[in-house]
Amino acid sequence: MTSALAQEADFSIIRYAQCWEDADVLLEALDIQPDEVCLSIASGGDNTLSLLTRRPRKVIAVDLSPAQMACLEIRMAAYRDLSHPELLELMGARASDRRDALYARLRPRLSVAARTLWDARTDAIALGIGGAGKFETYMRLFRHYVLPLIHGRRRLETLFQERSPEDRKRFYERRWDGWRWRLLVRMFCSQAVSEKLGRDPRFFRYAEGDVAAQVLASARRALVQLDPSRNPYLHWIAFGDYGDDLPHALRPENFDPIRENLDRLDLKTGAVEDLLAELPADSIARFNMSDVFEYMSGEDAARLLREIVRVGRPQGRVVYWNTFVPRSRPAALADRLRPLSTLSARLHQLDKVFFYRALVVEEIV
Ligand SMILES: C[S@@+](CC[C@H](N)C(=O)[O-])C[C@H]1O[C@@H](n2cnc3c(N)ncnc32)[C@H](O)[C@@H]1O
Repeated sequence: MTSALAQEADFSIIRYAQCWEDADVLLEALDIQPDEVCLSIASGGDNTLSLLTRRPRKVIAVDLSPAQMACLEIRMAAYRDLSHPELLELMGARASDRRDALYARLRPRLSVAARTLWDARTDAIALGIGGAGKFETYMRLFRHYVLPLIHGRRRLETLFQERSPEDRKRFYERRWDGWRWRLLVRMFCSQAVSEKLGRDPRFFRYAEGDVAAQVLASARRALVQLDPSRNPYLHWIAFGDYGDDLPHALRPENFDPIRENLDRLDLKTGAVEDLLAELPADSIARFNMSDVFEYMSGEDAARLLREIVRVGRPQGRVVYWNTFVPRSRPAALADRLRPLSTLSARLHQLDKVFFYRALVVEEIV
């Protein structure tokens, strides 16, 4: 079994320079126990590093894209050789005028492939590596050119003030959710614009429903139900940095636990389908699958889940997100995968990265 996506999309560019998936939610969903073996889609790298704070025996990080693996590699080098404040500077989470010098310190640690990629991206280094992807560029365009047409700086700052849920609802309904907001978000987040500027068109092949309407509805949840003043991901979209609350992997208390466990990471570039085919039965306890199932047909998704069940340990967990395509274990796997629906629904409500339709948590029976 191999990945159809691997044959079609261009993986030489960085698509996601950060993990746009909430690591707090992921960690609670996976419930990793010490000494377990985990498999994690590398993506931007942050969430794979977060898994190390639970002291698993091993985390196998896999991604089809060498560019995404280079994102993980540069972070690993940064945890090894930089201090925590320097890591935040390199990421773009704090102001800096010496990112090139920080990179020069890490460069010798990188593989030839990662070094070649980052050497060619001096622009991204200067900006902060967390802003280097196509998806982050899309968000930057939104921040610089679209958002100012909708709301002025003062109103934007008011949105991020701490307030009660009732106040947030009132603010959203009276001052935020006007016709400009709806119109411009509808235009900028439409499938057509998103395909051109944000995600690869092949990522939408199986998308269902009105993409922009879903973004609008989930933005309401992020601005009213969740607290914008404590949401680093939302802060990044609005201001280009995380503010005071950082994503899990970047919090000071997680720096040493990640650094101390970097040797437990095993990096594999390639399709997860191919990797699984080489692994023995009963060998992996926890699977962070990002949202890979929605880039494949329903049949391919079912086949991959069946492989996960074969390789997975009893009571192990599989966690993944649905953005625009509803995917979960098919009926044919009902006796092998049990949906943890109450947990999924609760965590979905807490998900600070608001644009997902669902979080799926399934237990291997
Ligand atoms: C697309 S990102 C997730 C981004 C985020 N959820 C979003 O859409 O905003 C997931 C990562 O999965 C990788 N990927 C997709 N299909 C894969 C496969 N079959 N095997 C390994 N990696 C895969 C992509 O290269 C990417 O880095």
